[in-house]
Amino acid sequence: MTRRLGSGSLVIATHNAGKLKEISALLEPHGVKCLSAGSLGLPEPAETGTTFVQNALIKARASAEASGLVALADDSGLAVDALDGRPGVYTADWAERQWFEGEPGRDWYMAMGKVEGMLQEKGGGAPRSCAFHCVLALAWPDGEYAVYEGKAPGTFTWPPRGTMGFGYDPVFVPVGREQTFAELDPAEKHAISHRAEAFKKLVAEQFG
Ligand code: IMP
Repeated sequence: MTRRLGSGSLVIATHNAGKLKEISALLEPHGVKCLSAGSLGLPEPAETGTTFVQNALIKARASAEASGLVALADDSGLAVDALDGRPGVYTADWAERQWFEGEPGRDWYMAMGKVEGMLQEKGGGAPRSCAFHCVLALAWPDGEYAVYEGKAPGTFTWPPRGTMGFGYDPVFVPVGREQTFAELDPAEKHAISHRAEAFKKLVAEQFG
């Protein structure tokens, strides 16, 4: 049986204030106090895994070991079937601007365009099926862990549409809809997203 969190403090292994806020809002009603790895000054490990599970565990374990508290990490990305699952764990990296391309930072239009370019190289008939994945990993300081996976299947569309959301939302049309994640009302996206599915599994097992 999977170990349960109970009430107490949980380190959210992220330095991203937005993610901390979103995750805290989901867990605090269950009596969990969420602290961020950033506010505790915990190190950010290199994401050297080749799967979402490996990277989520690397982050959760690093925070659990450094803090002595239970830690939660997430890893997510877009996997395109015709590209053998790419960009996958490199979804954020594909948006990284190189120094010679101007200001450092992330360019999501460039990243989405790279996927489109690779699909076009495959020819007009290449399937455009893809899925967003999200893995949540819980790690206890003694090495025990639990993993929860969520997936949102859909189609990669071009050109990008919509102004809501973030990242690759403007090119992702979830199965059963015609709008992209960036055109859908955020509440509708959150009801069907890969992240929502992973959180439902975590909450069911940990607090159900
Ligand atoms: P990480 O999980 O922080 O390593 O980043 C994964 C990357 O996947 C993000 O930077 C986004 O570009 C992309 N991604 C993950 N979830 C979503 C989503 O719900 N919408 C759009 N892009 C997403």
